[in-house]
Amino acid sequence: MIPQHSETRSVPRIGPREVAIFARLAQSAGGLFISDQKSDFLVARLGAQLIRLGLPDFAAYASYLETRATEADRTQFIEALTTHTTSFFRENLQYDWLRETGFPDLLTTGAGFRRDLVIWSAASSSGQELYSALMTACSLREAQDTDLRCRGFGTDLSKAILRRAESGVYARDEIGGISDGMRRRFLLSSVDDTNRFRIAADLRQRVRWQQTNLTDAASLPRITADVAMLRNVLIYFDAATRDMVLQNVIRRIARGGYLLTGHSETLTPQAYGLRSIRPSIYQKVE
Ligand SMILES: C[S@@+](CC[C@H](N)C(=O)[O-])C[C@H]1O[C@@H](n2cnc3c(N)ncnc32)[C@H](O)[C@@H]1O
Repeated sequence: MIPQHSETRSVPRIGPREVAIFARLAQSAGGLFISDQKSDFLVARLGAQLIRLGLPDFAAYASYLETRATEADRTQFIEALTTHTTSFFRENLQYDWLRETGFPDLLTTGAGFRRDLVIWSAASSSGQELYSALMTACSLREAQDTDLRCRGFGTDLSKAILRRAESGVYARDEIGGISDGMRRRFLLSSVDDTNRFRIAADLRQRVRWQQTNLTDAASLPRITADVAMLRNVLIYFDAATRDMVLQNVIRRIARGGYLLTGHSETLTPQAYGLRSIRPSIYQKVE
């Protein structure tokens, strides 16, 4: 018989003082906004850190982070608070639009003839977003014999998730969004594990991964992107941080290039020198 009540009592509680400390640290390290209503979220995400560090409660953990945590401890704290949910061809209407309109337009406006198109996945998580965009571009080139050449940049706050992205290895249950034709062209099967697939080398070689804090302009890659994907990350910032991140990213988009946001992330295009093409797709006009 499971002693349910004693189990419930053993979960450490988190008070408003600790919530405020964690929120301040999350804001300064990653721009992440944690509201004072998020104590359950913090308990769920940070509980493992108490066990790892052998600390009795969240007050001790807050004090530890403020006074003597190592760089690695602070990284673990931020890693625990970030959400990496992603998938291949997530919000796939944007990839349809890239194939039918975005990439062909970029070719005719000239960028594609002068140099490789640059696709930037600004909060890339484990890489599926950037690989999906590159698969779309390469398939278009191969199907239509166009001059479309491209390379990709993937950036994220989390070093651990970027290591996964760089490996390009995914499980069978993660590749569901990729069409059969694209699987044949862009995925390698593992010889000894039928559940593992790897992104083909010619696609992986087109990509650079870099740890970046979108709130820190100095940490951003020195690129001019033709397509910047800033999807499903603005929701984690407060209004001021969101504005700063948008400015940091849009500054690195070529005039005539495109910004793609998550479908629930709206913005006022004119405030950023953009024009709205369709929901969550914007073109830089200034
Ligand atoms: C929910 S995932 C979105 C992944 C992908 N863009 C998509 O839409 O499928 C959010 C990602 O943003 C990253 N992130 C959060 N704050 C960040 C910051 N300040 N700078 C860079 N990346 C950040 C997280 O580490 C996480 O991998």
